[in-house]
Amino acid sequence: MLHVIDRIVEHGAAVKEFHLRRADDAPLAPWRAGSHIVLRFADAQGRDHERHYSLVGAPGQAQAYRIAVQREEGGRGGSRSLHDEFAAGGEVEVDGPFDSFPLAPAGEGARTLLVGGGIGITPLISLAHAAQAQGRAFTLHHLVRSAGRRVLQDELALLPAAALAWHVSSEAGRADLDRLLGPYGEGDVCHACGPAPLLQALAEAAARQGWPAKALHVESFGARARQGDAPLTVELTLSQMTVEVAPGTSILEALIAADVFVSYECRRGECGSCYAQVLEGEPLHRDVCLTPSMRAQGMCTCVSWAARERLVLEL
Ligand code: FES
Repeated sequence: MLHVIDRIVEHGAAVKEFHLRRADDAPLAPWRAGSHIVLRFADAQGRDHERHYSLVGAPGQAQAYRIAVQREEGGRGGSRSLHDEFAAGGEVEVDGPFDSFPLAPAGEGARTLLVGGGIGITPLISLAHAAQAQGRAFTLHHLVRSAGRRVLQDELALLPAAALAWHVSSEAGRADLDRLLGPYGEGDVCHACGPAPLLQALAEAAARQGWPAKALHVESFGARARQGDAPLTVELTLSQMTVEVAPGTSILEALIAADVFVSYECRRGECGSCYAQVLEGEPLHRDVCLTPSMRAQGMCTCVSWAARERLVLEL
């Protein structure tokens, strides 16, 4: 559905908030806490982009969908294009909203912890609003590298100050995740969103603190290209094909483009649907869902990369 950018609000140098309304001015579908929309647009070079963004604010009926876009220097350039090439009045295709990260129920008197790393705070704000509407106590932890990287302050100011906890690593060092979570109590739930290393560290701390995996709900950032990623040659034994993958494109995207039969769902390293057995090569795991034994035999092709140029997959 075609949408128009109504307004752009800057949050510091790296984050812009886009307000989107339908191009035909029809009312927007109401949305639920933790929902996201999918944006499709072309950049100035004509390259197509598809990006998923959590909705900002209190869930429900809205006059405009609001998304917060952090300018990423790596990757395929989708966020840079939105930052540099789009202004109010610009048009993008929008699918959704999708109810992808709903607030999980907590036990009677149990804790609801919400943990956001950097711009990952976005879906947790709407989850905090939902918890508040249910009369449920919660703590929203925002982990940032420096005070200057705090975002959506106006949104956070709408929540009870006593429910907010800040962790600024340049001032206080890395957050102690074991302490943040504490020992698991029956019915406790934790929702977390942020970069994969934070979510992996949180999952490890949760395991140490006796949290069952089902009590931890995570949403990771999408594409995870990193500086230093070298081009890959991926050989597929079952399809008897070789696919070249450039950094900034995921292995999964390259396989789909080459018409390889693959299954996938989240494309964010969260569901394991794109898991492939690795026969040769050295995967660099960037998922947040595989167990160590699964990682020993395979990888999520949607987000993971490889340390050496050649990778052989059983696909
Ligand atoms: S598609 Fe979900 S982990 Fe890759």
